[in-house]
Amino acid sequence: MIYLDNGATSFHKPVQVRRAILDAMIRCANPGRGGYRAAMEAANEVFRCRETAGRMFGCTPEQVVFTSNCTHGLNIAIRTLVKPGANVVISGFEHNAVTRTLYGLGAVVHTAGRKLFDWDDTLREFDAALNTRPDAAVFTHVSNVFGYILPVAEMAGMCRARGIPFVVDAAQSAGCLPVSLEALGADFIAMPGHKGLLGPQGTGLLLCGREPEPLLTGGTGSESVRQEMPEFTPDRAEAGTLNVPGIAGLRAGMEYVEQVGTDRILSRESQCARRCAEELEKLGMQVFYGAHQAGTVSFRPGMDCEAAAQILSRRGIAVRAGLHCAPLAHESAGTLETGTVRVSFGHDASPRQLRMLAEAASKLPPR
Ligand code: ALA
Repeated sequence: MIYLDNGATSFHKPVQVRRAILDAMIRCANPGRGGYRAAMEAANEVFRCRETAGRMFGCTPEQVVFTSNCTHGLNIAIRTLVKPGANVVISGFEHNAVTRTLYGLGAVVHTAGRKLFDWDDTLREFDAALNTRPDAAVFTHVSNVFGYILPVAEMAGMCRARGIPFVVDAAQSAGCLPVSLEALGADFIAMPGHKGLLGPQGTGLLLCGREPEPLLTGGTGSESVRQEMPEFTPDRAEAGTLNVPGIAGLRAGMEYVEQVGTDRILSRESQCARRCAEELEKLGMQVFYGAHQAGTVSFRPGMDCEAAAQILSRRGIAVRAGLHCAPLAHESAGTLETGTVRVSFGHDASPRQLRMLAEAASKLPPR
């Protein structure tokens, strides 16, 4: 299989990740729940992962909350900042993890900046929207559908200058672009562990620039006599037993990414994405490609996108088609009616993957 669905999850994990998961299952009991050796091994394993995340993402280990995916982290972050009926500014490329959560809270949402690959439009519209003095802003770093890299440093600066709290969704950028809680001055940054960070599914990180409101309540192994959740992070947001094998795998994945370097990973992925766009255009597809693009390309052939993905799948190519849980991004790009076929490269992006994709895509009708 030629796996080109890294936007959904990375699939070819480094062997170190598998080893770390297995090793943790053999060595580790419940962290923070006992002083015997296997419990201490678990606590050490969890802390190692917090340290690695802190080093990679410009924060202290204590500011790292383990979540079960990026959606989980976004829920904690958004529910901390957004009270029912609050005014919130978002970008035109948000995922349902953001929009459904805001919808559920009855937030009044202002969508700002809908032009793909256009930093001028994104910044101008975002700036104007912030002048309405919203209660919070939420924006993605990279569109999961189109690979558009938003100018998050500038957007963060605009929020900071006005004292507007904000959340960054790093679902598609963690592992291939620099992400720093300190540099962005964000209230929260949410990310999955299982995409660019190469950990297993069921892992995620929430970096906390302020104390989060707990989404779950329960045992933390700390301050057990009190019925309120502990005041301090990470315990405040980590009720229940942690996914220790997953966290061990995530640590190994992050160490691998650190070793290779996010700049090298991004360069490999985005070069493949650019060449992929060129090949698909030659085949007569409608390709969504522009400046500020990471390793993801969407296109439309001259047929139904889901059926096209089925044809590619029968030829051994794994891609995702449809709306990618991001109808807002499709509405912004004018593809809500049809969806797109999405090709998303990963850390293992290669010319062979490109060749195989182009060969299979040549069987699809041009648009
Ligand atoms: N949000 C993930 C994707 O883009 C699952 O496919």
